[in-house]
Amino acid sequence: MFFDKLTRMLNDILRPKPKYITVTPVNSAGPTQALPPSKLPRHVAIIMDGNGRWATSRGLPRSAGHAAGTEALRDIIRASDDYGIEALSLYAFSTENWSRSKEEIQALMSLLLKYFNSEIDELDEKHVKITILGDVDGMPEPQRTALINAMERTKDNTGLKLNIALNYGGRAELTRAARLLAEKVQRGELAPEDIDEDLFAAQLYTAESPDVDLLIRTSGEMRTSNFLPWQLTYAEMVFDTVYWPDFDRARYLKCLRIYAERDRRFGGVNEPPKPSEAPAPEAEPAAAEPQEPAKEAAPDAPEPKEAAPETAVPEADNAAPEAENTAPVEEAAQASPAEASDTVRDTNDPDEEGKA
Ligand code: FPP
Repeated sequence: MFFDKLTRMLNDILRPKPKYITVTPVNSAGPTQALPPSKLPRHVAIIMDGNGRWATSRGLPRSAGHAAGTEALRDIIRASDDYGIEALSLYAFSTENWSRSKEEIQALMSLLLKYFNSEIDELDEKHVKITILGDVDGMPEPQRTALINAMERTKDNTGLKLNIALNYGGRAELTRAARLLAEKVQRGELAPEDIDEDLFAAQLYTAESPDVDLLIRTSGEMRTSNFLPWQLTYAEMVFDTVYWPDFDRARYLKCLRIYAERDRRFGGVNEPPKPSEAPAPEAEPAAAEPQEPAKEAAPDAPEPKEAAPETAVPEADNAAPEAENTAPVEEAAQASPAEASDTVRDTNDPDEEGKA
């Protein structure tokens, strides 16, 4: 009996443990932490998911979810501008979304128009540059005109690059880029051997934005859904469980904090600090990093924002989340393999090879 127990314990200790990618729960409590601008992502992309479920769970029509989602979007755009984020890309309407009901599409189109009419002055005053990602010509009038006017009016602005994906599909964007290059070759403006990654990226709707550093998706879904496939190649991903209308500044800050803690290697290796450089075990916590500007100031750029103090995650945000749809994303590293069955496997782990 005793030996059986001992054998089981030993087996348990010696058994190779599968590792899982840790999907850090956005809902978890965390220490208040100031985020220096040097730790902020340059480009944030957001899949604003869950408007419909937010509404349905309240017995409201789906259009009410989109209206509430527009309020969240307004605030997150302002917050991105306040924090000095260089580019923000929002997935507002995909090429697949045309398959929704006529009422829902109409509600979305009318919200779009209302948003641009009511916000364009403020956005322009804040030097926000609006770019529509997607096929604007495929949008109905008067949305098409409003979008073209917004882009035209803000085209010389040097503040936040606000990219709104409308009538957008990632594969369509890549196909379009290939076609544009082929046309240049056909016109004799380009030799095929001149085509490299930079030239390819220059044909994309996001040509003026850096690659995406951080992708946020709300509503607990964990996929990229044909959004910015080229630009997301090395993006860090954070999945929040709340529906988009409930995503606010506090949650945004938490996502930014999670991003700041990630170890980005871009396929390389980050050398651990040499013993001589490592802090002594009892040393005081390192002072905040010098606050580099988040972006290069253009000559006529707006005054730098007082971003650093504001990007501290407020304590209040660590409070328990609202009851509905806030089951935390699993912290897979702590879960047993059985509990973590729907988490992503770490394909770098030899034990996990072939299982993903
Ligand atoms: C996804 O939720 C959301 C959308 C398809 C639309 C997003 C649009 C807005 C936030 C507002 C309009 C945009 C602008 C720029 C003013 P879903 O409807 O797929 O939610 P579900 O998965 O719960 O059904």
